[in-house]
This record gives sequence, structure tokens and C-alpha cells, in this order.
Amino acid sequence: MADGTVPAAAGDMHVAIIMDGNGRWAQRRGRPRLFGHQAGARRVRDIVEACPDLGVRYLTIFAFSTENWKRTQTEVSGLMSLFRRYIRNEAARLLRKGVRVRFIGDRVRLDPKLVEMMDELEAMTSGNDTVHLTIALNYGGRDEVARATQRLAREVAAGRLAPDAVDAETLAGFLDTHVLPDPDLVIRTSGEARISNFLLWQSAYAEYDFVDTLWPDFTPEDFARCLSRFSKRDRRFGAVAG
Ligand code: IPE
Ligand code: IPE
Ligand code: MG
Repeated sequence: MADGTVPAAAGDMHVAIIMDGNGRWAQRRGRPRLFGHQAGARRVRDIVEACPDLGVRYLTIFAFSTENWKRTQTEVSGLMSLFRRYIRNEAARLLRKGVRVRFIGDRVRLDPKLVEMMDELEAMTSGNDTVHLTIALNYGGRDEVARATQRLAREVAAGRLAPDAVDAETLAGFLDTHVLPDPDLVIRTSGEARISNFLLWQSAYAEYDFVDTLWPDFTPEDFARCLSRFSKRDRRFGAVAG
């Protein structure tokens, strides 16, 4: 639900993952950072395909943040070509596995060729319903809220929306994630315990799990352990424990 007050039905969980630690994984092997990103991209397939058995219907993964442009040009362009390669190599398999792919984030700064491939993958998989995979690319939570506010303000300026009618649900309807339920669980790999501008609004009542494993080493078994820990948490949503 847009206001995050209703827990997900069993089997309909939304898990969001901050896939962190590719650079350190490569560094430990004396290899360039891009080598770690390539290994990280290969991990995505197993995690996506583990979702149905684990009761995860929605999976949202953080691939590139609005702050990641601060990295060297070599790393940024390497990542951008990796995204193109991922789409090219995985499209047929995602379609076959029943995965519906969506992208969130600001597309304006992305290469038009990449945006075209993203649009195509979204359209091509739009009939799928087994797993809803959302890829956050040039995504930042604050940027998303700012862009949503711009769209909302335009509606107000055009006289189609009354200022007094604006509530949390109205704003949620303008976010990139408007068609998705709020995440139940946010996992971050690599030992960092911060959210780095990921799904700020949507995670109001998410549970967090920070694991030490670096993303290229994160297996479906690690994923299953996160879900098992999650199942033991007592989610209260502001009420008294039941
Ligand atoms: C996460 O891995 C992937 C992206 C941010 C694109 P990092 O590249 O942040 O890896 P570390 O944190 O430097 O190890
Ligand atoms: C967050 O990781 C972004 C992605 C995983 C895509 P970062 O590595 O960019 O975050 P910080 O800089 O450590 O906070
Ligand atoms: Mg990092």
C-alpha cells in the first residue's frame, strides 16, 4: 500500500536490495573495479530466479544512484555499457521466466540508446506477472520526490488538483514507484549500514538487513537467510505488538 500500513500477503513480498561491494570484491583480487561490476551483474540472475520459491513477488535492485556520476568517467561508462549488455543478454531469459521488468530513476541524463533498450524491455515483458523486477538506474530518493513534486505542482498550477487535497497518498501516486507496493525488506550487502538515498519515501516501515557479504558473493542461500530473519521480525506499523 502506498502508505505502508498494510503488511504484504504471504508470497507477495517486496524485497529491495542495495547491491554494494563490487569495487571491494575486485580490489581484493587485485583487479579493476569494473571486474567487480561484471561479477555483480552475473549475480542478479540467480537472485531474480530464486524469488518465486522464496515468496518474493517484487524485487527492486539499486544499480546506479544519482550520486554515482561522481565516479571516474571510466567506471561510469563501464557501468553504462554493462547495463546495455545486461539488457541485451538477459532479455529473452527474463521474458521466458515470467519476469516483468520496470526501471525507476531519472532517464533524462541517460544515453538515449540505453533508454530505448529500457523502454523495449519494459514493453516486451509487460505481460509477465511471476516476478516484478524493478531496476533503479540513475535513481535517488530525494531526486524522485523532487521530480514527483514538480509533476504534482504542474497539476495544481493547471487547476486539476486542489492544494488542500494533497496528502501522502497523492504524492505517492506521482513517484516512479507508484504502481509498486512499499518494500517489506531492504537488504544491503557489503557491511555498510546506510541507505544512500534508496527508496526514502517507500521504506518508511521497511525492515532492514545489513549483511557483510559483498554483492558478487551474495547467493540465493544468503538471500533465503535474510528472508528467514525477516520472518521472525515483529512488524508493528506504529501499533502495539500483537
Ligand atoms: C555497488 O558496488 C555498485 C554500484 C554502486 C554501481 P560499489 O561499486 O559501490 O562497490 P564498493 O562499495 O566500492 O565496494
Ligand atoms: C549505493 O551504493 C548505490 C548502489 C548500490 C547502486 P554506493 O556505494 O554508491 O553508496 P555509498 O557511496 O557507499 O553511500
Ligand atoms: Mg559502494
